[in-house]
Amino acid sequence: MAATLRQSLRACAAAAAALMAVAPSCAYAAPPEPSAAESLRLGRALVLRNCGMCHAIGATDVSANPQAPPFRNLNQRMDVENLGEGLATGILTQHPAMPEFRFEPREVVAIVRYLRSIQGRTRAEAETRATPSI
Ligand code: HEC
Repeated sequence: MAATLRQSLRACAAAAAALMAVAPSCAYAAPPEPSAAESLRLGRALVLRNCGMCHAIGATDVSANPQAPPFRNLNQRMDVENLGEGLATGILTQHPAMPEFRFEPREVVAIVRYLRSIQGRTRAEAETRATPSI
């Protein structure tokens, strides 16, 4: 009887020690910063959903709306980096053909990151960048 009690006490202490060991990793549950790959994926998904009906969004596709410039060529007319502000404030809508958009900061970062990643130097390079392999 006494032996059994001692055994179970020992088992209990061991369990408590194990719990203490894992506790610190449970305590902090803040979400991690999105990785570059996740951000690229989000950016691609956002432009596919919001812009793809007019603009070519990839490395080789053709714009559905012939007046909308393919995204991979945007750097021929502007600094893609500067698009962020417009995406956040909705000021991209200077021209009437485009609907108004307003994106959250994290989405703006993702879209600009994605657009930057597809700006073509060579087509093959743009293509591999546009579809990050994770
Ligand atoms: C309904 C069709 C349509 C949609 C949807 C659309 N665009 Fe456009 N976009 C156009 C057209 C057409 C032009 C060319 C307008 C012009 O040159 O006057 C254009 C031009 C642009 C330009 C170039 C502007 C410039 O000053 O040269 C950028 C950047 C752009 N679009 C970004 C986007 C982004 C980002 C999205 C999605 C969030 C988007 N567009 C969605 C039709 C669209």
